[in-house]
Amino acid sequence: MLKKIATAAGVLLLSALAACGGQAPAGSGTGALTLGFAQVGAESGWRTANTKSIQEAAQAAGVVLKFSDAQQKQENQIKAIRSYIQQKVDVIAFSPVVETGWDTVLLEAKRAGIPVILTDRAVDSEDTSLYRTFLGSDFVEEGRKAGAWLVANSTGPVSVVELQGTTGAAPAIDRKKGFEEKIAARPDIKVVASQTGDFTRSGGKQVMEAMLKSTPDIDVVYAHNDDMGLGAIEAVKAAGKVPGRDIRVITVDGVRDGMQALANGEIDFIVECNPLLGKQLMDLAKKVKAGESVPQRVVTEETTFTREQAKAALPSRQY
Ligand code: AHR
Repeated sequence: MLKKIATAAGVLLLSALAACGGQAPAGSGTGALTLGFAQVGAESGWRTANTKSIQEAAQAAGVVLKFSDAQQKQENQIKAIRSYIQQKVDVIAFSPVVETGWDTVLLEAKRAGIPVILTDRAVDSEDTSLYRTFLGSDFVEEGRKAGAWLVANSTGPVSVVELQGTTGAAPAIDRKKGFEEKIAARPDIKVVASQTGDFTRSGGKQVMEAMLKSTPDIDVVYAHNDDMGLGAIEAVKAAGKVPGRDIRVITVDGVRDGMQALANGEIDFIVECNPLLGKQLMDLAKKVKAGESVPQRVVTEETTFTREQAKAALPSRQY
């Protein structure tokens, strides 16, 4: 009788493992870490590369990943986080679609004893005990790099249009701030129009089409990501102008399509934002679960690309 019960229990455990793609489920007693990850969406090439990096790194690290796509809506991310709390995952990680409005749900996670890791984007919360660490880029610095390049590579009056990322998102706020900080040294560089394109290619195209009609003599487009820059390039071409010659284009990210456009001469300069955060996230999640201390901030290493540098980097670019 005892032998039969033991066999049945073994069969149940094996089916549970199979249902989780071969990785041990939470609470199975095998020690596998369960990570609930609430992603922003799939708005850009950067985001697709980021999601892939997280999924592949979880697989490689033997982490059971529960993944949700919020389709760029804060309420969806909050719902996903609440569901991870209910499921009693070991660690929650998320990339907040906007900076504000997280305190309540983060407090719920804290009360449930589930540590939270911010990935890619920060929250604007005074209570830093609501999360254990923040892994991601320095977006203000990215904006500074874009502004510094324009200051060094332009003369005379320069009329800039800015395509902002999602309103209220950390990279949109910070990339604007860093850029403005640097161009302040050159009062003849003026941002004559600035609007959100929501980090999407279609958003960038639509906003640029309107700007080309309403704003005469645009010299430069500063797009907060490659996708919006690529959308703007389509609008510039449709208006009979040559991107990279009639209108210069500066973007942030460095995804393959952006790098290709830079190599082709349609983009002038790209500030890199690295989406390959998966491995670092898994390492941090394991440390947090083990009760080890982790730094409050982990900044991603990044570079910039000129045309020649893009040509050299393209053959080995992973995303
Ligand atoms: O938070 C990172 C930003 O979000 C990337 O620059 C952009 O492409 C993405 O949508």
